[in-house]
Amino acid sequence: MEPLIVCACAFMVLIVLLRRRAGRVQCLPPGPPGRPIIGHLHLLQPPLHLCLHTLSQQYGPIFFIKMGSSPAVVVSSPFWAKEFLHTHEHDFADRPQFEASKRIFYNNRTLVMMEYGSLWRHLRKLYTVHILSSKRVEMFENPRLEEMALSIKLLENQMCGAVVDLRKLVFNTVGNMMSRMLFSKRSFDVSEAADGGECRFKELVERTAVLFGTPFLGDLVPWLSWLDVQGARKRMDRVAKELDKFFEEVLVERIATSRGVSEEETDADYLDMLLRIYNEDGGMDRDSIKCILMDLLMASIETTTTAIEWTLAELLNNKSCMMKLQEEVDTLIQGEDAAVLNGSGKCLVRDSQLTKLGYLQAIFKESLRLHPPFALNLRQMCKALDTGIKVGGYDLPKKTRVIFNLWAMARDTTMWGANAGSFCPDRFLNDGAPDLRGHHYEFLPFGTGRRGCPGMSMALTVAPFVVANLVLRFNWETPDGIILDLSKEASSLTAPLATPLVAIPTLRRSSQ
Ligand SMILES: *[C@@H]1O[C@H](CO)[C@@H](O)[C@H](O)[C@H]1NC(C)=O
Ligand SMILES: *[C@@H]1O[C@H](CO)[C@@H](O)[C@H](O)[C@H]1NC(C)=O
Ligand SMILES: *[C@@H]1O[C@H](CO)[C@@H](O)[C@H](O)[C@H]1NC(C)=O
Repeated sequence: MEPLIVCACAFMVLIVLLRRRAGRVQCLPPGPPGRPIIGHLHLLQPPLHLCLHTLSQQYGPIFFIKMGSSPAVVVSSPFWAKEFLHTHEHDFADRPQFEASKRIFYNNRTLVMMEYGSLWRHLRKLYTVHILSSKRVEMFENPRLEEMALSIKLLENQMCGAVVDLRKLVFNTVGNMMSRMLFSKRSFDVSEAADGGECRFKELVERTAVLFGTPFLGDLVPWLSWLDVQGARKRMDRVAKELDKFFEEVLVERIATSRGVSEEETDADYLDMLLRIYNEDGGMDRDSIKCILMDLLMASIETTTTAIEWTLAELLNNKSCMMKLQEEVDTLIQGEDAAVLNGSGKCLVRDSQLTKLGYLQAIFKESLRLHPPFALNLRQMCKALDTGIKVGGYDLPKKTRVIFNLWAMARDTTMWGANAGSFCPDRFLNDGAPDLRGHHYEFLPFGTGRRGCPGMSMALTVAPFVVANLVLRFNWETPDGIILDLSKEASSLTAPLATPLVAIPTLRRSSQ
């Protein structure tokens, strides 16, 4: 008898196992039929978020595709976003690795892209505690005020009544704010927005963004990565070399002058702070310092510029919003001690006043909702889960990537009402409106959880600050009063307007 029972048991176990196996293969989320090798790459075209939005209308709020040989699910609803980012947040704490980040950022050492693990945790702590805390951001108000004042002066003296390339002006203003906070140097030329020139460093920043914004074949089909038809590797290495040279010079110069300022001193910058940590704690080398400086610069300038540009574009298209904002800023400035710069009598809105500008905050949130600088947020299943896992009833293979389509979620009428697609800041004035802390899964411009953007407090300070000051001092018009077409986007690392925003400033009386 006994051998028979054993046999029967073994048989049943086998059946259960086989069923499981079969079930695992069968229960993928729905999705379009794929092709060998390329998977679904033939269906994808830029801008990717639009293309994925179209597919989600056919296949639903969660669908499965293969990006080359990488399995991926595309998530377009808050329900599924919560499933991955809350219920399974730990399992999807990784990010896909990219060749560009390996080559440019010293073997993927940028916080944004780094593999989840102890190195990442160490760096993340450094960022949240020392680098991007709100206290630290506050400490650097002066360089921001001064750069804003310089740009305003330039607009007043040379550009009033002329067509101004706002993308350039904002890019260079934000770029200088950042480079001064980082290493006390101005690296961009604001006046080029008037004369059309380009500076070398700006070009370098832009080339880096392009490399990150362009898919690299080897990232999608790894066994084809030797076949670098795009010649991208060479371009990555060239950019990496030039960036390294630039930051190495900054570092050498600082070490040579050995300012030795303490952190409390008013002219200390990020580099001083990093050098202090470098000298005190063995856990940081020269490359880490360069990498952090690069990371902070690259991650901030383009994203902040894109956010500001969209906000201004929406305001240019809606006179009543613009006027309401100007009134709000005027009232605040008249009632309080604004920053007055060097006896010029010119007022600027300061950081500490931003939270009192409720309508500005609503405008900025609404702009981030419709135009998140990163329209797609990426995660990947942690390496340790090497047999895949089950999420919400679906079986996902190992290393599945999750693509959150923030752009699509902002246009979900069940979440945002019939006017989901239009610019309506008032929706953020209601009690219970979503905030930016990442607890509202329909509104995640900064991501959420352990992979949330550590630069949020910087972005929430710099971007509204620039917008408030530009509308305080000037009225802005589009050339010939045209209504801007805001439905077209360029495909880049971030999702900016298809063509750079231009507008004509005229001086406002009420701010004198
Ligand atoms: C960096 O990313 C690349 C993939 O692009 C990968 O091959 C490499 O192992 C990663 N390096 C580290 C240190 O994680
Ligand atoms: C303000 O004035 C001080 C000296 O009075 C000068 O050193 C500083 O550069 C000025 N700042 C600006 C933004 O003009
Ligand atoms: C401007 O915004 C207001 C408030 O959100 C809205 O009621 C109005 O319809 C908008 N106007 C245009 C032209 O979009």
